[in-house]
Amino acid sequence: MSRGEVSLAGTTPPGEQLVLRPFRLPDQEAYTAARRRDARWLTPWDPTNPDGEPPRITYREMVRQHRAKARAKESLAFLIEVGGQIVGQINGNSIAWGAARTFSAGYWVSSAVAGRWIAPTAVALLGDYGFGGLGLHRLELAIRPENTASLAVARKLAMRDEGLRPNFLHIDGAWRDHRIFALTTEDLTDDGRGGTFRERLQRSWDAQA
Ligand SMILES: CC(C)(COP(=O)(O)OP(=O)(O)OC[C@H]1O[C@@H](n2cnc3c(N)ncnc32)[C@H](O)[C@@H]1OP(=O)(O)O)[C@@H](O)C(=O)NCCC(=O)NCCS
Repeated sequence: MSRGEVSLAGTTPPGEQLVLRPFRLPDQEAYTAARRRDARWLTPWDPTNPDGEPPRITYREMVRQHRAKARAKESLAFLIEVGGQIVGQINGNSIAWGAARTFSAGYWVSSAVAGRWIAPTAVALLGDYGFGGLGLHRLELAIRPENTASLAVARKLAMRDEGLRPNFLHIDGAWRDHRIFALTTEDLTDDGRGGTFRERLQRSWDAQA
């Protein structure tokens, strides 16, 4: 694994083992097939280029960019695997250092595995690594108000609703409003009930089970 790249592993509250690992060149076929199969499921939530269709980059170039950004601690990109199969992706985007120490998570899972708490567990693993491993201070999710499935992810992690940012991100071809959800290290340590994203998620599972 090249410098700056890590793998993370954990179990979903219902009991499935997840692995978050860096993109590799041999993943090209499985990754592109997963994206193609679920194009209609993913397109409404996919980031787009405000200037129009961007120049297409090859898979190899995308992996190279992920590695360079991980080395520079600018962003992290992980494939989500269950049972050795690629079932989604989670990114730690827009890592800001200095006085901010903040980052945001972007994610998708294949429609075939939806509803199994995979995305909330992936966010929890990323959040715990960001705070504990990298020393970041704040994790943010930006979610379109109409994306009820993704709003459930923020709810399950009991993230603070910080309100609406109008026309915040260019998604599916237009500027879209987003609701912002966040947690800082203080939210984890000051709630008096345990200090990790994973513990927070487990509590949600226990509360509804
Ligand atoms: C949003 C997303 C990542 C959630 O992932 P997940 O691993 O299914 O998350 P969860 O298991 O916690 O389910 C979240 C919600 O999805 C919905 N859901 C459950 N089963 C589902 C299914 N079979 N099909 C569609 N949606 C389902 C439910 O509303 C659920 O909330 P609930 O548990 O309170 O009922 C996933 O729906 C997805 O990839 N959507 C397309 C891309 C996207 O929206 N990315 C996020 C952009 S901010």
